Order: sequence, then C-alpha cells, then structure tokens
Amino acid sequence: MVKHLELGLFLPSTSGGLIIAKGEPPQNKATYALNRDVTLAAEAAGMEFALSQVKWRGYGGESHHWDAALESFTLMSALSAVTSRIKLYASVAVRTINPAVLAKMAATVADVSSGRFGVNIVAGWNKFEYAQMGMWSDDDYYLNRYEYADEFLTVLKRLWTEESVTFSGKHFTLEDCKSWPKPAYDLPVVCAGQSDGALKFVAKQADFSFVGRMNDTPEQLGEVVGKIAGLAAAEGRTVNSYTLLNVIAAETDAEAEAERDHYLANRDDVAIQEFLRVSGMDVNRADYLKLDPATVTFMSIPYIVGSYSKVAAYLDTLAAQGLHGVCLTFPDFATDVPDFIANVMPKMTSRRAA
Ligand SMILES: Cc1cc2nc3c(=O)[nH]c(=O)nc-3n(C[C@H](O)[C@H](O)[C@H](O)COP(=O)(O)O)c2cc1C
Repeated sequence: MVKHLELGLFLPSTSGGLIIAKGEPPQNKATYALNRDVTLAAEAAGMEFALSQVKWRGYGGESHHWDAALESFTLMSALSAVTSRIKLYASVAVRTINPAVLAKMAATVADVSSGRFGVNIVAGWNKFEYAQMGMWSDDDYYLNRYEYADEFLTVLKRLWTEESVTFSGKHFTLEDCKSWPKPAYDLPVVCAGQSDGALKFVAKQADFSFVGRMNDTPEQLGEVVGKIAGLAAAEGRTVNSYTLLNVIAAETDAEAEAERDHYLANRDDVAIQEFLRVSGMDVNRADYLKLDPATVTFMSIPYIVGSYSKVAAYLDTLAAQGLHGVCLTFPDFATDVPDFIANVMPKMTSRRAA
C-alpha cells in the first residue's frame, strides 16, 4: 500500500520566493493577503501544514530578492486566527531572542491556533543577517550553533512545562523564571539543519526534520531519512523527515521546461552573487560562470519541472522512499497553488486515502 504523503506550503513570506530572477513571476510581494489566501486554499484542499521562514536580510539586485520578509511569528499568529484545521509553523532564529521571550510568544500562538502550532528552530547559516544587528559576535558561533540551539531548546521546553526554571548554562542563565500560560499540548519542533551537528540535535530534540540537497535522487533522500530515523531511535525517539521542493508544473513537460528556462534566462546575477557571498562562496566572475545556472538560480533547493503527471509521480516516489511529507514552493503562489491543487493532487496515489 502506498504511504500517505503530507503536503504543506513553504509560504511566500519573503519577496522572490526560492527563485532569484528578475521580473514577475517569480512572485511575490511579501504580503499578508497573499499568505492568507494561499494558506486558506491549502487548508480547503486538505494540505496538512504551512511554514514561514525567518529572514533578516536579503540579497538586493534588481529583484530585491528576500529584501522584504514578513516576520514569521506575527504572520503565523494572524494565520492561526483565520484558519481552523491546517498546522502552522513559525521559524525562530535562536541567535536573536531569549528563550523566555520565545516561550511566551509560542504559547500565545499555540493558544490562538487551538493546538495547531509548532516551531522551526533555525540555528542560522548567514552571519550577515545577524552581524548587521550585533548578534553574531564571533565566528565560533557557526561551529557551535547546534550546541547553542540545543541549550536554547532545553530551556524552552522546561519553560513550557515547569512551574519555575532555574538554569545556569553556557549561554543562558535563568533564576526562578516563570512562564505562563503553558501550552496546552506538546508543541512540535521542526529543524531543517543538514550538518552533522544539526542531525545530532534533530535526533535528540526535534520531532520533524527537513532533508535533501539539490540533485539528490529519491533513493539518496530515502537513505538520509533512514539515517535520521536510526539516530533518533538511538535516543529512544521518533523523528519523521520532510523535504522542501520547488515545483514548476504545467500541462506538458515542454511548457514547464519553457517556464524554467524563462527564470534561468532572467536570473538576477547581482542578487545571486550576494547569495553566494553570504553562503561563504565568494566566487569571481570566471568561477561564477562555471556554476550550474539552475543550482544558483533555484538557491540549491531541490526542484521538479514537468507535466502535472510527472510531478505527481515524483511525489509518489518520495512517499515510497519513506518521506513523511513535502513542503512545496512555487514560482507564483497566487496561480500555482490553485493549479497544483486542481491538477497535481488528484493524480497522486499517495493522497488517495486523504
Ligand atoms: C524547510 C526549510 C526551512 C528553513 N527555514 C529557514 C529559516 O526560516 N531561516 C533560515 O535562516 N534558514 C532556514 N533554513 C535553513 C536551515 O535552517 C539550515 O541552516 C540549512 O538547511 C543548512 O543546514 P546546517 O545549518 O546544518 O548547515 C531552512 C531550510 C529548509 C530546508
């Protein structure tokens, strides 16, 4: 029997989404109205979740890619109030906030959502996002960020469940710290880290993980899913894995490929160079031209291009490889989400039971 594959949206809360190209689409004014409309459409279609990312600095260029980013917790709080079934995840950059402040923010949204809210823990990979506000004091942070996240989450979980927390750690000190209201349920914790430190953290502390690098085959993804399940089992825990996927779908392969080629032809070189710089890949013009245009334009995030049937079959293959769910992103959410719901979801065997 084919396993059920959960579906969710990687919300268009940042301008440009996951394609660094000029013109429109790629969408996206980062507006509440767009995020609300696509979340309501996803909920009505039976999708299971929506997640918004935390971003503090974009890449400029003509596209102003990611320059505008809605704040994740306030956005998900508003979406919690207008939805009733879909699960909602906000992202927190642990470097930027005290866990006692976050404990109350999360407990508040947990209440607004009546039990549908969870937290995506972001250790941070782009130092310039944090250095601009004086929150990346030393480069050792990059090496130890999942150990920092581990202490952060230990404190957070205690604040959610204990009367009073007194804690003296490497990064946080709490003295008879109180946090009420308590969330009425165990908030699910997601982490999308892929490094070895991240996987250790995920196995010990998270409920869901995001796996997958660009050009991974479904079989390679299946291996990572198994690895994470094994690491979690060694901790006596269960961790389910998801992947993030950029979908360019159309009636025919040729149409979808033409759309992909349009983005590649219009890629925003200035913003891409900035993306590479902050990712620690400062490349000169000659090196840059040797990079795979799709990898840089689609931000090294896995993508699928093809007919509705091809995309549906690919998603079914991911379900067969043990993926628990897929978080979807699109070039133009306003039109692509209804299109996916109408034309891809009905073709998926892994959604039939739903
Ligand atoms: C679904 C998903 C959501 C993510 N959300 C964020 C985010 O909100 N903010 C951010 O800075 N990075 C985000 N990331 C990046 C990850 O947190 C992580 O840093 C990245 O996968 C690299 O792994 P590493 O940190 O172990 O090196 C996300 C990645 C994925 C796949």
